[in-house]
Amino acid sequence: MTNYQLHHGDCLDVMAGMVAESVDCVVTDPPYGIAISRNSNKFGVATDRSRKASSHTWDDTIPGAEVFSEMFRVSMDQIIFGFNYFMEYLHSSPCYIVWDKRGSMPYVPFTPTEIAWTSFDRMPKKYTVVNHGFIKDSPEDRTVHPTQKPLLLMEHIVRDFTRPGDTILDPFMGSGTTGVACGHLGRRFVGIELDEGYFKIAEKRIRDAYAMGAGEFRALDGGGDMVGLPLFDEFGEGGE
Ligand SMILES: C[S@@+](CC[C@H](N)C(=O)[O-])C[C@H]1O[C@@H](n2cnc3c(N)ncnc32)[C@H](O)[C@@H]1O
Repeated sequence: MTNYQLHHGDCLDVMAGMVAESVDCVVTDPPYGIAISRNSNKFGVATDRSRKASSHTWDDTIPGAEVFSEMFRVSMDQIIFGFNYFMEYLHSSPCYIVWDKRGSMPYVPFTPTEIAWTSFDRMPKKYTVVNHGFIKDSPEDRTVHPTQKPLLLMEHIVRDFTRPGDTILDPFMGSGTTGVACGHLGRRFVGIELDEGYFKIAEKRIRDAYAMGAGEFRALDGGGDMVGLPLFDEFGEGGE
């Protein structure tokens, strides 16, 4: 494959055509089943207007068991945001990722943390990246999706949990943030998105990211919060 491959369609259909364990790591943020697409505007804030305006239903239910089976079949490892919504599909694991958004704000309905489940056999890890509407550590992100992850966060996760040249799959790519991080960090990327509007946004962002290639890698405030094992790249390219 070339460096990236994007599919506009249902991830279950696309994954059905993929070879078992053909992907090094799934890094994804599936729908949590909380109707956020109808309950918030593009900054993630619920307003009367946003509730009435959006007819999107993609977040009304969580993906079925067969989607999780396919994600596990096609990949060696997985990082799945919103683990608290998908516990019925995931097994126990020592390694989870805490995204600390640095505190909640009074009267503003932003969640203070999110947790991703991982299949890795290593210590948990915490990343502090502020993301409260307009107040954010990743100012280069133009908000185009109601559940868009900060690019800074995704770059750190992709860098710490995968190796250069690895193939990463995001079956629920939304605006394509995982793919942008992969483009900046020399990983191959396979992305799938059902919604045509988000697919086009992701396509442009990912094309630009691969054209730009590696930029300057921005450290997190305080160097990030590493708990436990060294990063893969401290062992040199090629891994442990
Ligand atoms: C939580 S959002 C991901 C947002 C992403 N992390 C970002 O930074 O933009 C989940 C996305 O999955 C898409 N989706 C829902 N069901 C899908 C399916 N069966 N196949 C592919 N994409 C799907 C939705 O349209 C939505 O854009």
